Amino acid sequence: MNHFLDIHKTDKDQLRLIIDSAKAMKTARDGQPKAATDHDLPLKDRMVALIFEKPSTRTRTSFDVGVRQMGGQTMVLSGSDMQLGHGETIADTARVMSRYVDMIMIRTFDESVLEEMAEYATVPVINGLTDRTHPCQIMADVLTYEEHRGPIAGKKVVWCGDGNNVCASFLHAAGQFGFDLTFTGPVQLDPEMEFVGFARNQGVAVTIERDPTKAVEGADLVVTDTWISMHDAQSARERRHNMLRPYQVNARLMERAKPDALFMHCLPAHREEEVTSEVMDGPNSVIWDEAENRLHAQKAIMRWCLGA
Ligand code: CP
Ligand code: NVA
Repeated sequence: MNHFLDIHKTDKDQLRLIIDSAKAMKTARDGQPKAATDHDLPLKDRMVALIFEKPSTRTRTSFDVGVRQMGGQTMVLSGSDMQLGHGETIADTARVMSRYVDMIMIRTFDESVLEEMAEYATVPVINGLTDRTHPCQIMADVLTYEEHRGPIAGKKVVWCGDGNNVCASFLHAAGQFGFDLTFTGPVQLDPEMEFVGFARNQGVAVTIERDPTKAVEGADLVVTDTWISMHDAQSARERRHNMLRPYQVNARLMERAKPDALFMHCLPAHREEEVTSEVMDGPNSVIWDEAENRLHAQKAIMRWCLGA
């Protein structure tokens, strides 16, 4: 049994196996109706709980559809409707849920909730986003980059804007998959040094460059995310917008990257804020493939967790 808690907590060779498995599963069901089951049904007779303490469109839908395609069943639970949201401990919830279901995916606020769930669950636990990281997203992003441009190792990825949870998982992936990452954003929103340090310790270059036009020079991939994450206080909205506006990804900025540079965004996007519609809907953007690949990457993650 494997938990999938973070990219830096999973061995490099295992991450590569997951990406390869996702590619193979995607190819195998090319052109099939969405509800058609896969040729193999590795999750047959398995029940998967999907717990959400924050909103979700992609994570919720892609996990649910992915389990069904592999022959399993899901229950989608809202944290606020569970006793979890009314004082029952995470540990007790984990012990009880493990008696009913074969795997738990949880989207939560504090990382400690995920960690406690994994410690006390006797079934695999998957991180569906915390305030600090979003590993399933970045597995989909690596898959997306590689299906468009080949191996991501040795490439230059530029993160523009807030050094948030998605940026953190990109830094983990830089270390594990061997690509360089340049962060460009305001100093107040730098990624935590722990994430930067992890990537650097794996031997890849992590650069902090305040000037976005310099940062994107020679980029193979430009990535951004919302200026206000679900865990950020709305009261900080104006201040964050003012700090982040110079880091908007627009056509002028993309022109400084390599001509064939890709653009990614985990979505949901706020058009004309962190990115213009011109870039989102432009020729370098692979955001819809990226969203689709959540499905394929997570199917591979779930199989890996269950050894199925
Ligand atoms: N990218 C992502 O995780 O989207 P949702 O919040 O819609 O799940
Ligand atoms: N950084 C965003 C990602 C949403 C998928 C958030 O945490 O709200």
